[in-house]
Amino acid sequence: MIHIKSAQEIEKMREACKIVKETLEFVGERIKAGMTTKEVDELVYRYITSCGAIPSELGYEGYPASSCVSINDVVVHGIPSDNIIIKDGDIVSVDITAEKNGYNGDAARTFLIGNVSEEKRKLVKVTEECFFKALEGLRDGTPLYDIGYAVQTHAEAHGYGVVRALTGHGIGKDMHEDPAVPNYGKKGTGIRLKAGMTICIEPMINMGTYKVWQDRSDGWTIRTNDGQPSAHYENTVLITTEGTEILTL
Ligand code: MF3
Ligand code: CO
Ligand code: CO
Repeated sequence: MIHIKSAQEIEKMREACKIVKETLEFVGERIKAGMTTKEVDELVYRYITSCGAIPSELGYEGYPASSCVSINDVVVHGIPSDNIIIKDGDIVSVDITAEKNGYNGDAARTFLIGNVSEEKRKLVKVTEECFFKALEGLRDGTPLYDIGYAVQTHAEAHGYGVVRALTGHGIGKDMHEDPAVPNYGKKGTGIRLKAGMTICIEPMINMGTYKVWQDRSDGWTIRTNDGQPSAHYENTVLITTEGTEILTL
């Protein structure tokens, strides 16, 4: 079921989303080569809880941390660890969710660590562009799969692979609500978006094949099949009668 948020609910969403945005800025100012992904997770936990919010990834379906920290060929759901050290030249996606007053905000950024190759910088840039392409013309009444169409068209024009195994989603009281928001699709199809819907648009774009696999040893980590890098960019977006509002930026 898709929840259309009331004005009061949207205010609560704004608050949660502001905390998410600030947490990612806090991390972005501190993340660097030599840190472990566990240290990144500690920054996330510290910031979110200092705002009186809950890091809602912690314990979600048994997930053991407050953030997903995914390096290079890890697409998403990298579990923070004392044994994973961020290196110069890495691209590191940090994906976090915070709950405040019963409502969630969710966003992800891919950070460039030190001296990153031109190839990887371009992947990160195009992934962000995919998100903004999806917002063009988006408003009350837009067919849902226009989002995926826009993301896919832009990514594939650069020869990149669009991850299909994972999607964006509605968000509110629950981190994951209907509808699923794929990063691929046919223009003009799907349900029509409505003002008051809050959704997460989150392109996951691979330099090579779109195919991914899940690490069976931890049950979470998603990697590219070909070992090439992947980037992720996510924001929580409110649909309005005029267009959209990005709540986590
Ligand atoms: N924040 C993620 C998303 O974009 C969800 C992470 S899964 C979790 O949907 F288990 F880490 F919570
Ligand atoms: Co997320
Ligand atoms: Co999400």
